[in-house]
Amino acid sequence: MKIIDCLAREVLDSRGYPTVEVELTSENFQARAIVPSGASTGEGEALELRDDDKNRFLGKGVLKAVHNVQKEIAPAIIGKEFVEQSILDSLLRKLDGTSNKSHFGANAILPVSMAYARLSALENKQTLSQGIAKNFGTSGLTLPVPLMNIFNGGKHADNGIAIQEFMIIPAGFSTFSESLRAGVEVFHHLKKILHQKGLTTAVGDEGGFAPRLDPSLAAGAEAGPGSHEKVMTLLLEAIQMAGYKAGSQIFLALDCAASEFLNKDKKNNTEYWFEGSSRTSNEMIQMYEKWVSHYPILSIEDGLAEHDWEGWATMTQKMGKKIQIVGDDLFVTNPEILKKGIDLKVANSILIKLNQIGTVTETLDAMKMAHQAGYTTVVSHRSGESEDAFIADLAVGTEAGQIKTGSASRTDRTAKYNQLLRIEHALGNRAKYPGKAAFKI
Ligand code: PGA
Ligand code: ZN
Repeated sequence: MKIIDCLAREVLDSRGYPTVEVELTSENFQARAIVPSGASTGEGEALELRDDDKNRFLGKGVLKAVHNVQKEIAPAIIGKEFVEQSILDSLLRKLDGTSNKSHFGANAILPVSMAYARLSALENKQTLSQGIAKNFGTSGLTLPVPLMNIFNGGKHADNGIAIQEFMIIPAGFSTFSESLRAGVEVFHHLKKILHQKGLTTAVGDEGGFAPRLDPSLAAGAEAGPGSHEKVMTLLLEAIQMAGYKAGSQIFLALDCAASEFLNKDKKNNTEYWFEGSSRTSNEMIQMYEKWVSHYPILSIEDGLAEHDWEGWATMTQKMGKKIQIVGDDLFVTNPEILKKGIDLKVANSILIKLNQIGTVTETLDAMKMAHQAGYTTVVSHRSGESEDAFIADLAVGTEAGQIKTGSASRTDRTAKYNQLLRIEHALGNRAKYPGKAAFKI
């Protein structure tokens, strides 16, 4: 397939900050892609290039990245034939020449890589999920189990709750659409419960509710002891009110994003500040063990900080047979870091975010390595998203088994669920759904 044009422009993400959209044209087709953006980013992520011009978008403009696509990448790919994704992606990496994509910015490289995936699928008369399935070597028939983030805290809200995401996993159903329906119904019942308690039902960045549970707390103040258990109890109430059974039909998952609540005063990478007191990694692990024995928790992501590898190994040893332990900021979708994790028996699952690593090929490499090592994979959105539903097709094409793409509100989140509904519909009775088996525990 020959590329005949490559354009980039600044568009907006779901938080109202600029991001990069790329449009690639071949002789017969045209395809677009928009790159997402995180808030609680891992230190090892590929670089997101921002303009830092305080006169535009509070410094968050992406005209430098747009310029890099138009003036550096486009001239190198226009008029050239690329027979497969990995050849284009290698060229992009070579042109950038840095290990963390800091020359062009991952936000310049990735949308070109994603748009190419779409364009080559079109050329082959395939859908994006079919194109990815062919590249990855799956049948592309398996829909993912959704991890729905219906209560937001941490950096995605301002309610003083340290843990970033409280998710429900409707895994005890036989199809994706039934699971999604159950999750959506729980979301609506949670809204009723919060409303009855006089709490706000405004939503956070990923479409989950984000109330301050104790309205007397000053703005910005940290929620006190027991507040996280209160959130989980609210979720259980909502599951019950919706008529579902917690622990067999619907489970809970947490993304603690623990690098964000390290005890920074002490400049110690393995001490945490949680619910008003300082905690060691072992104390955090003990708390998680207690929670897992009280609540139907199936998955904990970033329960410890990204530099706390010893703590991660201990947590995996103690809890890895019972629950899924997901590395997000820890692995940053980077095959080299994942390899270290596999060798050191750290975690049993990896979160997959395209823009943490910066090309489709490297993302697929990380997923392949994870599957070979028996790790589960959770394809994920970022907290700053767009209408681009690429990750829905990625989850099906790789048969990842799980997708984390927010709550049942905000079109940036439901766009992915809607794309999965389209894929399920098109597959008809060929569609497969793993349910709880996706968690391998
Ligand atoms: P982020 O959050 O996109 O702000 O990094 C999502 C996550 O931590 O999983
Ligand atoms: Zn995370």
